[in-house]
Amino acid sequence: MKRRTLLGLAAAMPVATLLSQCASRRQSPSWQRLKSQNGRLDLSLKAQAGPIQLANQQANLLSYNGQVPGPILELRGGDRVRLTLDNQLSAPTNLHYHGLHISPDIDNVFREIPPGEKYRYEFEVPQDHPAITGWYHPHYHLMVADQVFGGLAGPLIIRGELDEIPELQQATEAILVLQDFALDDSGEPLAIHPLAERWGREGDLLLGNGQQNPVIELPQNGLLRLRLINASASRIYQLQLPEHPWYLMATDRGAIAEPRELETLTLSPGERAELLIPGDRPPGNYAIESLPYDRGTGEMMAAFGEQIFQMSGVVQPRQQTIATLRYVTSDRSEPLPLPKQLLPVDPLPSPSRTREFLLDHGLDFEAGVTGFTINGKSFMAGRVNTQVKLGETEDWRIINKASLDHPFHLHTNRFQVVSRNGKPEKNLAWKDTVAIAGYETVTLRVRFDDFVGKTVYHCHILDHEDYGMMGIVEINV
Ligand code: C2O
Ligand code: CU
Ligand code: CU
Repeated sequence: MKRRTLLGLAAAMPVATLLSQCASRRQSPSWQRLKSQNGRLDLSLKAQAGPIQLANQQANLLSYNGQVPGPILELRGGDRVRLTLDNQLSAPTNLHYHGLHISPDIDNVFREIPPGEKYRYEFEVPQDHPAITGWYHPHYHLMVADQVFGGLAGPLIIRGELDEIPELQQATEAILVLQDFALDDSGEPLAIHPLAERWGREGDLLLGNGQQNPVIELPQNGLLRLRLINASASRIYQLQLPEHPWYLMATDRGAIAEPRELETLTLSPGERAELLIPGDRPPGNYAIESLPYDRGTGEMMAAFGEQIFQMSGVVQPRQQTIATLRYVTSDRSEPLPLPKQLLPVDPLPSPSRTREFLLDHGLDFEAGVTGFTINGKSFMAGRVNTQVKLGETEDWRIINKASLDHPFHLHTNRFQVVSRNGKPEKNLAWKDTVAIAGYETVTLRVRFDDFVGKTVYHCHILDHEDYGMMGIVEINV
């Protein structure tokens, strides 16, 4: 049955031509970095459509201040932010601060900023906010996939206690924003085939920081702290750094207890990871490889045959280099050690109740027939799906009844994954987005801290969210 709801008709569409695979030597010329000064950050972001330079070609995309990815925002606990969003798009938009623990009255996905209008977001980052790698992106329902896939996304860094660790203070930092695009030969975005939308659109142009295979410098005997953000609309990355060790140091919402060596790193849309990479190997170039990943579409692709890849927005999974780490000389003669300890991750208290959330493909006639549901319901503006109490801890069992992966994201509050398919999770970590493969069940534990109001949870494959796989949770006193 799933096949019937997910397969559509084929149409011949041009496939974007791939650019040359050589590592680009140019650092992104002027990636704006907007850092708070004396506890304040005043800035404006202009969302606009038009030609930009992307991966050494001209591309007609959406951007913030003409940049893809958008400017880097850097804050710390206690900072006051005044951010003016100037909507020069032809559609409504808004801004979501993915990863920030602020009131849903401010980080309000129901807000509409009409074309041609400005809106000023004003808020204070909580004093005790954990140090995180977050990101900002539009969240106007029905437009989210279009706008994020169009290029609208940028990093949002919060500094804090974690950054005081001596080894980290000596580390070199880099950011890698992962995005994919579907463009034709002249850099125009391809019209996405409806089937690709149902699966979740992907593009065959895979970029890091808006470049094809960017170079990230790794000082010899130094330590690289690399912040990865999956800002793709649908693509799930499985990354590997062959012949070189790397260590996980932080997940979506901050540090883990101690660095942990990784084999592969899987990042669903919306997820972030911070990695530590010691420069203690023979100097040279080391490629970060993106491995093919089947997010539940493989069988359907096979059933369809080669013609499926003629549809724009459907991409055959294949291995590609996403970025290259290049050793550069430094004046360090001794390798900088990894920090032994990062920050403790305190387990949340026992839950006062458990709820179930069934993710499925199906029809909710009340909400309009959109095809993706949570507990049988598709998103409906103004319809509260779940009521919770401020300060309480709950377990949420997220059951994926469907064949596709549905990475689950909760706004406002962070959570801890406690089990996957009934097996307890060994490593405690703060998350806000969790990968859930087809037919998997994940239990997460969340405490509703500090803020009341209406916020959302949804699948972070943004086409699925636009197709209704989202619900409203109201936090009450
Ligand atoms: Cu990254 Cu609801 O968003
Ligand atoms: Cu979010
Ligand atoms: Cu989904």
